[in-house]
Amino acid sequence: MKDAKCIQFLQWALPRLRMRWPGFRKVRRQVCKRINRRISELRLNDVESYREYLQVHPDEWIYLDSLCRISISRFYRDKGVFDCIGDKVLPALAQLTANSGNNTIKCWSAGSASGEEAYTIALVWQFVLSLDYPDIGIHITGTEVDNNLLGRAERACYLQSSVKDLPEKWLSQAFNRTGKQYCLYPEFREKVNFISQDIRLAAPDGPFHIVLCRNLAFTYFDISLQKEVLGRIFDSLLNEGILVIGIHELLPGGITYFRPWISNMGIYRKAFV
Ligand SMILES: C[S@@+](CC[C@H](N)C(=O)[O-])C[C@H]1O[C@@H](n2cnc3c(N)ncnc32)[C@H](O)[C@@H]1O
Repeated sequence: MKDAKCIQFLQWALPRLRMRWPGFRKVRRQVCKRINRRISELRLNDVESYREYLQVHPDEWIYLDSLCRISISRFYRDKGVFDCIGDKVLPALAQLTANSGNNTIKCWSAGSASGEEAYTIALVWQFVLSLDYPDIGIHITGTEVDNNLLGRAERACYLQSSVKDLPEKWLSQAFNRTGKQYCLYPEFREKVNFISQDIRLAAPDGPFHIVLCRNLAFTYFDISLQKEVLGRIFDSLLNEGILVIGIHELLPGGITYFRPWISNMGIYRKAFV
């Protein structure tokens, strides 16, 4: 299928899935390839026939939705963000946790792919903060809609390309290397659990001190869906809790219930209500 044809199709289909075309501009080739494969599987002639097929087979929209998931991730993605989380955010949350008489910081990684982001938080805690806060622990819940990715997250074994941004010391102390695989040791895995969940429909049991929702809702979802997701995140966060979005993302306009805290890092604080 020609690029222009695929763009035209995506610009027609994405709003019907409550998604936005600009988020897909850069990654469209990946999605177009999957759509092409689907067209062949269905023995259709072209994308126009697929469009007609969608109009008479409403269930196909669910399948198309699954073809529009982008799963790019890696450990320590956007290093500056995790440095900030280690230097400023987690110490503030450790204080908040201690002041409220609790001993566990609760974190939610939404759209956790194969676990890279959730485990990065566990590593930051272990290597940067655990010695300073011996009485405080952390627990991270990763939610993901794709069950294949969840399986990989649970196995916690990665190729070099996924771990290449980690400091050398973390890599050698936290992973067991066998051949091309880097497998995270159990003591890091046990701080994290994964749930199969669609952020458009539900949130895990909170309340949380920090929610990371990066490179998902605020890139791919349309504005009305972004606002719904943001409401769900708001309800899941404790007062003064932290929301981290992707460094290239923005919250929808007019939102006053999250205030920028470290704005060039996409770090917001929940406002008191
Ligand atoms: C681009 S990855 C981002 C991973 C990670 N947050 C990061 O920034 O590196 C987006 C992830 O969100 C997942 N996802 C897509 N739609 C979702 C939904 N409705 N609910 C939960 N996860 C979803 C995708 O399967 C994918 O693993």
